[in-house]
This record gives sequence, C-alpha cells and structure tokens, in this order.
Amino acid sequence: MFIESFKVESPNVKYTENEIHSVYDYETTEVVHENRNGSYQWIVKPKTVQYDFKTDTRVPKLGVMLVGWGGNNGSTLTAGVIANKEGISWATKDGVQQANYFGSLTQASSIRVGSYNGEEIYAPFKSLLPMVNPDDVVFGGWDISDMNLADAMARARVLDIDLQKQLRPYMEHMVPLPGIYDPDFIAANQGSRANSVIKGTKKEQVDHIIKDMREFKEKNKVDKVVVLWTANTERYSDVVVGLNDTMENLLASVEKNESEISPSTLYAIACVLEGVPFINGSPQNTFVPGLIELAISRNCLIGGDDFKSGQTKMKSVLVDFLVGAGIKPTSIVSYNHLGNNDGMNLSAPQTFRSKEISKSNVVDDMVASNGILFEPGEHPDHVVVIKYVPYVADSKRAMDEYTSEIFMGGKNTIVMHNTCEDSLLAAPIILDLVLLAELSTRIQFGAKGEGKYHSFHPVATILSYLTKAPLVPPGTPVVNALSKQRAMLENILRACVGLAPENNMILEYK
Ligand code: NAI
Repeated sequence: MFIESFKVESPNVKYTENEIHSVYDYETTEVVHENRNGSYQWIVKPKTVQYDFKTDTRVPKLGVMLVGWGGNNGSTLTAGVIANKEGISWATKDGVQQANYFGSLTQASSIRVGSYNGEEIYAPFKSLLPMVNPDDVVFGGWDISDMNLADAMARARVLDIDLQKQLRPYMEHMVPLPGIYDPDFIAANQGSRANSVIKGTKKEQVDHIIKDMREFKEKNKVDKVVVLWTANTERYSDVVVGLNDTMENLLASVEKNESEISPSTLYAIACVLEGVPFINGSPQNTFVPGLIELAISRNCLIGGDDFKSGQTKMKSVLVDFLVGAGIKPTSIVSYNHLGNNDGMNLSAPQTFRSKEISKSNVVDDMVASNGILFEPGEHPDHVVVIKYVPYVADSKRAMDEYTSEIFMGGKNTIVMHNTCEDSLLAAPIILDLVLLAELSTRIQFGAKGEGKYHSFHPVATILSYLTKAPLVPPGTPVVNALSKQRAMLENILRACVGLAPENNMILEYK
C-alpha cells in the first residue's frame, strides 16, 4: 500500500514549530587488532553512539543557478520543471503524455515505512523530511552562449516538438548571464558557441559571479541559492605547489591572474566566498586542494563530481551484484557513442581524459571488499571508450561487456546495450542534487557528550548516490556501490525523524 505522508510518534522525536528533534542510537562497530594471549587477533566490538539530530523544517524559497544553463541538461531541466508546474501534457505518436519527474530519487522513488495488517506500507521518498518543491524553484544561471532557453531547448533536440511549442512562451524570455570562458580548458570546437563572456582578470570574473548571485537573489526574492556546474567538461587543471594546493595559494593565484585556474574553479571560489553551495556535475578537478580547504574553512557545501546517470550507474549496480554473489569480474569494457554538444566537446583528448578518469575508479571499493576473489591490488581490466557520432544527437548509446570467472574455471559474459536521451537521465539527477544539498544545510547533529550541534562536513558525501566519482573529505572512504549510497542517504534522513535504518529483516513474520 502507498501512503502520501506520515508522522513519527516516539519518545525520541519531538516536532516543534520550526524543527524536528530526534535522538538516535547509531549502531556501529569498532575494529581493533590486538595482542590477546600472545597472538594478534582482529576484534570487532559492537558499539552504540547516541546522536541528536535537529532539522529546520522551514522550507526556503530556492533559487538554482546553473553554469551552462543553455546546454542540453540545463534547458531540459528548466523545461521539465515548467511542464510539471504548469501541468502540461502533449501529443506523441503513442498518445498523450503527462509531465512527470521519473528518474528523480526525491520526486519519484519511495521508501518502506513499515507494515500494516500484513501489508508493506510505502511512502514517497520526499515525505521523509520537508523539502523544496521543484515547482517552486526559480531557475537562472550563466552560459557562454547567449541563446535564450526556448531556442536552446530546440537546439538540444531532446523534447517532443508539441511539448516544445507549448513551453516556448515560458522560456523565450529566459536568457543566461554571460559566463567565464577560457578556451584553454574546453575543446577548441566550442569556440563558435562562446558569444557571451565575462571580460577581465580572474579576480574581476570572480567578483562578477558574486555580483550576479546577489542580484539574482534580490531580483527573484529567493531565500537561498544553490549553484550547479552542468557546463562543458573541462580538462584537468594541474595541481601545483604554490599555485592551488592551499587556500591561501589559490586565492593569491586568482589575484595574480594565473592561467591554470580553470573557469569552474573560479565559479566555485565565488560561491564559497559567498556561502553558496556549489555542485560539480562534470568530471574535471574543479575542487583542487586549495578549494576544498577554502570550503572547509568557510563551512560551505561543495559536492561532486560528475552526474551518475547511465552507464556508470549500471556499473555500480552490476559489479556490486557480481562481487556480492561471489563472482569475479575480470574484464569490463564500456563503449559509448553520442552526438550532442557534450560528445563533441569530449572528442578532444584532454576533455575525454577527465571523463575517463571519473568513469574508471567506480569499481574499486567493490573489488577491494572481497579478498576471496581478488588479491590485494588486483583489478579487473577496465576500459572506457567514447566516440562522437553527430547523427544520434542526445540519444546516447552505451554498450558494455562484463566478463567474469564463475564456478570451477567457467566464464560468464554479460553484454548490455542501453539507448536513451542523455539529458532525460541527467535532468532529474540535477534536481535531486540541488534539493538534497539545500535540505542537508538545514540538518544539524552532534554525538551525545559532544555538547553541540554541527552541520554535515562541507564536502557533501550525502550526495554520492548521484555522482560518478564522489568527492569525499580527505581520509574518508569512497563508496561507489549504488545500493549502499542510497541506503546511506535514506538512513540518514530516517535518523532525522527517529526511524531506524531499513534492515530488511522483517522478523515480525519469521
Ligand atoms: P552541453 O554541451 O549541451 O551544455 C553545456 C553548456 O555549457 C553549453 O551550453 C555551453 O555553452 C556552456 N558552457 C561551457 N563552458 C561554460 C562556462 N565556462 N561557463 C558557462 N557556460 C559554459 O552539455 P550537456 O549535455 O548539457 O552536459 C553538461 C555537462 O554534464 C557535461 O560536462 C557532461 O559531461 C556532464 N554530464 C552529463 C551527463 C548526462 O547524462 N547528460 C552525465 C554526466 C555528466
């Protein structure tokens, strides 16, 4: 059975006018390697740590500024949200289609809350805690192309034509602000698109972005702004001692107009200085060490990297299944071809390299988790190929071959072919990223005895379900397996309302 909403009744949960307080027993373990009776042993000690969670339930009016607003993702997301808000339906050759949020974890997935008369009860994911309604988000942002969003939607060739016609009046007055353009960081083939750029030194460009955010906030009367990079993939920037390795060096390099500071890093610096959360949806290393240090020192949320939308999402499910089943994946070969502007940009070797890196580490934690299958340091062969084929436009093809060793020397090969509009996968993920980033800034918690509440670490691992190469604070394990990432997110939100993690034991019926 599906219910729309619920309230938790527990001595550990208190709802006040503006907050939900919960006291939460976190069951964990401590692992030690100790000398016991003359020999070293691994000892695992279960322990319970009590946490207090406090969630501000006042949902702000949210502004979302996209870097690369006029791109396929930016225009598709904006169009999708307007279509949902206005309740638009459109004619297709298969019949009338209604706007929906399919593919969004927050808007279109559910959680189990318990059972009632022997029946499982589910509720929307978004009913866990008060979240911004996507219909109420005000969109804006920057692009190096001055095309309005209605024309950008047509250029993207993603949405049905009848829908485009209906959306045009809502979108033709939406024009992205000029962006920071540096041809050294994206493919040369993007040059003809760059007709709307911010002039000046790097310092002036950062100041310009700060001014843009303030004016956007003021003009649209929004309480909070979140910025998300969905612009072209940049090449990696060099990390150099004295240039961008520390917060001081990075800020000094901006003042000195150093050429190796990328546009994406400049936007991120502006956001952190302004206390605006910044999320990176592309693979490049926007978050150089100096920027991470800056975000930590200002306690400003940063999250990334690279939307986990298609092939990598499948990989982080399939390899988790194989390794979890005791099957040894030995070769993973992933081909892609796509014909949109992202594909054209990725046809340059240096931008492709960024994508290759972010796609390559996704199986590491799963492989390392099973020492029966893999020797320390052993990895499956893992190759990623991306080709630009203009004809297929946004309809990306992903072909994957997984070869594994099974029982008694047998081999098993699984082949997958996935076709779909890339931007229709990415747009709902962008929505989730900004809504969850906003929500996470309203949550405070602290261990009993700590005596104070604090926010989540500014490097937002809570968003890792949505990213290919999750950015984590220094010294924190990276989790790539999709089911673990989802459980982490859901269980933290459950803790905020005093619900235990979903343990799937269903002992009531055993
Ligand atoms: P797109 O090429 O259609 O859009 C990017 C937009 O960014 C363009 O309008 C371009 O003019 C603009 N732009 C480039 N540099 C800029 C700058 N410095 N400042 C402001 N605007 C700038 O690409 P699409 O398909 O929308 O993808 C966007 C990004 O998302 C790409 O980096 C892609 O790799 C990444 N991504 C996309 C996924 C998907 O499924 N669509 C999945 C994972 C990542």
